[in-house]
Amino acid sequence: MYLVLARKYRPQRFEDVRGQEHVIRTLKNALRDKKVAHAYLFAGPRGVGKTTVARILSKAVNCEHGISQEPCNECSICREITEGRSVDVAEIDGASHRGIDEVRGLRENAFYPPARTRYKIYIIDEVHMLTKEAFNALLKILEEPPSYLIFIFATTEPHRIPSTILSRCQRFDFRRLTTDEIFTQLYEIKEKEKIEIDDDALKLIAKRADGSLRDAEGMLDQLNTYCGGKITEKDIREVFGIMDEKFYLDVLNAILDRDDKKIAERITELSRRGVDWGEVTRGLIDFFEKLLHVRLGIEEDELLKPKAERLNEDQILYMLNQVISLERRLKQVPYTTALVQVELMKLARYPEITRIEELIAKEKTQRMEKPEEKKEEIREEVKEDTLLSVWERLKERIEKNERPAARNIFSSLHPISYDGRVLRVKITEEKFTMLGMDETFTRKFEEHLRAVCGKEVKMEFVVEGKEFVPLVEHEIVKMIKEELDGEVVH
Ligand SMILES: Nc1ncnc2c1ncn2[C@@H]1O[C@H](COP(=O)(O)OP(=O)(O)OP(=O)(O)O)[C@@H](O)[C@H]1O
Ligand SMILES: [Mg+2]
Ligand SMILES: [Zn+2]
Repeated sequence: MYLVLARKYRPQRFEDVRGQEHVIRTLKNALRDKKVAHAYLFAGPRGVGKTTVARILSKAVNCEHGISQEPCNECSICREITEGRSVDVAEIDGASHRGIDEVRGLRENAFYPPARTRYKIYIIDEVHMLTKEAFNALLKILEEPPSYLIFIFATTEPHRIPSTILSRCQRFDFRRLTTDEIFTQLYEIKEKEKIEIDDDALKLIAKRADGSLRDAEGMLDQLNTYCGGKITEKDIREVFGIMDEKFYLDVLNAILDRDDKKIAERITELSRRGVDWGEVTRGLIDFFEKLLHVRLGIEEDELLKPKAERLNEDQILYMLNQVISLERRLKQVPYTTALVQVELMKLARYPEITRIEELIAKEKTQRMEKPEEKKEEIREEVKEDTLLSVWERLKERIEKNERPAARNIFSSLHPISYDGRVLRVKITEEKFTMLGMDETFTRKFEEHLRAVCGKEVKMEFVVEGKEFVPLVEHEIVKMIKEELDGEVVH
């Protein structure tokens, strides 16, 4: 039987787990002292080892040779757990067992001591999916757990777990793996599997996995099947639709030359090839990040250096910031090609940002030279009163002046419309509840809004999924209208 790489290479000992040193060290120390908690919470992104570590821990506390820092993996108990056959170690998927009845059943079972092992263990994956009633039932067990009972909760969204549960768990935060850590693991696998692939190609996979080792192993698997044992960088780009650096350089040149026509041509060409714009944008993020590093002098690149020198750090930061928000917004609109086009053209209108010190210096000399012309200048600087421009200024102001909590809420908002008096924004239900609980946020946002518009403007919230937004008022359609100065005809 063919075993997928991710399963075949699932670590069976703490020692073989990549990264997560802080988690492993703490767990091993506790095991050495035979200190076992009743509830653990493993929080962290997808595919970084939560379930893997939960299984190793289950074996380490139950191994026939006694509680130890590593399971033996040989005794019948260890083997049963590895193969998922143990009657005393259950893995439950929180997403498909969300309800009160399931937790009640679990509670009844929990009161029978383990049949063969020291501890009865419930590993509940995606535990944040449980309903409120199910959490309450769970809490009752956690308040007075039988001595032999252990829960290991795993979740990618710890903020969705009630604090009453959280406070009864020993929490471990798993982190995304670094590209190097992923690379090392992939390297070992390709050696053992005798897959022909060079280091640059492996690095490309490691990078694309974005911290998830499971995703990286999955990609290697897929490529191996597709290419039949010999994988090149070109195959990877083809299979995953990744652009090469030349494309990004072309786009940057067009931006630097403020050349809309060239941008449009590149986009049309890619659109015909049916590329995945999310992928292209993630590539752009990497590219601008590299450009920033070259500009800061912490990375070397002969090709990029002259480009980086044409921009100052603030301008590169501005561009990087724009492509990051583009990546997020792409997931929300169906007009992806149009959105990428608008955003790249906006980049080509990058502002002539001058550093604050230079501004002050300039102002000083101006004031000395011709003091009476100063007023004129200010009057000319009337700000644009459009959705896009108001939104950009508001965003900038809030990012600069607000504390993380307010910034966090603000970053999840999306502008819908603006008519000079009311700014309508889209908001998720969750964030809307947060606003409802503490109205200082809304007040703050409106204060900033007054400052950037120079007049009283109200903010109106449209809760996602609760209200229909007419297409002509849709963010992207408005943006295109504004950018191209056109009208929607039907
Ligand atoms: N830290 C790691 N060290 C070694 N291999 C890992 C690691 N993390 C993940 N893997 C590989 O990825 C596979 C899946 O990992 P695991 O199931 O532990 O992820 P997870 O964090 O539970 O993800 P999810 O939240 O999606 O359930 C493992 O079988 C293993 O091959
Ligand atoms: Mg898991
Ligand atoms: Zn054992």
